[in-house]
Amino acid sequence: MKKKLFIKTYGCQMNSYDTKRMEDILRPLGYESSETYEDADMVILNTCHIREKATDKVFSDLGRIRPHKIKKEKAGGQMLLAVAGCVAQAEGDVILSRARYVDMVFGPQTYHQLPEMVAKITGAYGAERIINTDFPVEEKFDHLPEENALEGPSAFLSIQEGCDKFCTFCVVPYTRGSEYSRPVEGVLAEARRLIAAGAKDITLLGQNVNAFHGEGSDGKTWGLGRLLQELNGWDGVERLRYTTSHPCDVQDDLITAHRDLEKVMPYLHLPVQSGSDKILKAMNRKHTAQSYLDVLSKFRDARPDIAFSSDFIIGFPGETDEDFEATMELVEKVGYGSAYSFKYSARPGTPAANMQNLVREDIKDSRLQQLQALLTQQALTINQSFIGKTVSVLFDRPHSLESNKLHGRTQYNQAVHVELPSAAPPRSLEGQVLDVTVTRAGQMALHGNIQTAQENAA
Ligand code: SAH
Ligand code: SF4
Ligand code: F3S
Repeated sequence: MKKKLFIKTYGCQMNSYDTKRMEDILRPLGYESSETYEDADMVILNTCHIREKATDKVFSDLGRIRPHKIKKEKAGGQMLLAVAGCVAQAEGDVILSRARYVDMVFGPQTYHQLPEMVAKITGAYGAERIINTDFPVEEKFDHLPEENALEGPSAFLSIQEGCDKFCTFCVVPYTRGSEYSRPVEGVLAEARRLIAAGAKDITLLGQNVNAFHGEGSDGKTWGLGRLLQELNGWDGVERLRYTTSHPCDVQDDLITAHRDLEKVMPYLHLPVQSGSDKILKAMNRKHTAQSYLDVLSKFRDARPDIAFSSDFIIGFPGETDEDFEATMELVEKVGYGSAYSFKYSARPGTPAANMQNLVREDIKDSRLQQLQALLTQQALTINQSFIGKTVSVLFDRPHSLESNKLHGRTQYNQAVHVELPSAAPPRSLEGQVLDVTVTRAGQMALHGNIQTAQENAA
């Protein structure tokens, strides 16, 4: 009998990737993905621990789900309730003791053991609860099923996990463990499966993806540049991206990949966090503002139209007005196409959580507002500079709100919305790369029209 599976995904793209793989693993056990949790047979919260309130959010979601679990059990059914991901890894014990109705807690490195965990819970030992937060010796990537389900033409592919950088604010080295690169053969096999399932646009993922150093079947160690070079030569792949990179791990062949490989998109997400060398040092980022800018210059020399994106943390302990000004200056110098900015939040167990000189919340707020105003202005200016121009758009899904519109992305990763041509059946353009003339632009997206065949020929 078919069973309903509901997974809620929080956090980064690696969690989105993991959610897909959990669905792949559970499908052979009869679980079909569902959009609602109310009558699901299994609910998994795939959680994120990166900033504060992460755990609170999990408990409030658990509280919402609980009555439905009780209702189902009263009616003689069963709803397995699981907490997975980075909160599970960091606070598994707390979850089990505070939410006694949770059946399974497992970390990001153990979900390949789901069939065994489910069998234990549903089998003869029915009453057992499971906590699984090991970093097992066998790698989950060696135990993934042979089938990759895909919705739409864009796919994530995790090639590297964990992190050894230990930025003082960050939980990732603790929740995901130390840096690990998948062997090249496994990565290529998964890429083949994704392409067979219709992937045209592949984003290679890692917490520190440009530290990738996978063992090749040629006996050599492959870096990210070499891997991109291989995939660039494959039929079926139209676009390649990768995220997230660290400024200290940029190799020359990654830079030249942007110059020489036509499928590698002119877009780079390279987080800097702060523009102040004092703060960068306290963050243990191991680069300076200038060395970061030098890296960006190299990418720009190789690919002058490349679009940059970054992450920023505002209000790290000890951040003064001058430090914040240095961040604003760095942003002015770069001109970002998009960026994410966050108020610093102390994470239990990280070195920065013990630092003094905390920045007042109202000061953090006002700095964040200033930074975001500048970043918004930059994104808007860049997007508006495209009005009247032609961009190459890969269409990936229907517009989330307007059914007569399509959503796609430019080579620079900007979102694009166009009206579906009247003759085209819905979804028929998904996976196609078409030229679009931009007519309007906002901070978040471009709007335009698909060029007709005659226009394309002219
Ligand atoms: N591996 C990536 C991203 C890690 S998490 C990198 O090295 O850049 C994504 C982003 O969350 C980080 O880039 C950082 O900007 C933000 N972040 C991480 N820990 C944080 C914290 N304690 N408080 C606020 N933002 C944080
Ligand atoms: Fe966290 Fe730093 Fe590693 Fe990124 S590089 S995951 S911010 S420790
Ligand atoms: Fe969050 Fe874990 Fe990703 S903490 S950002 S889900 S690696």
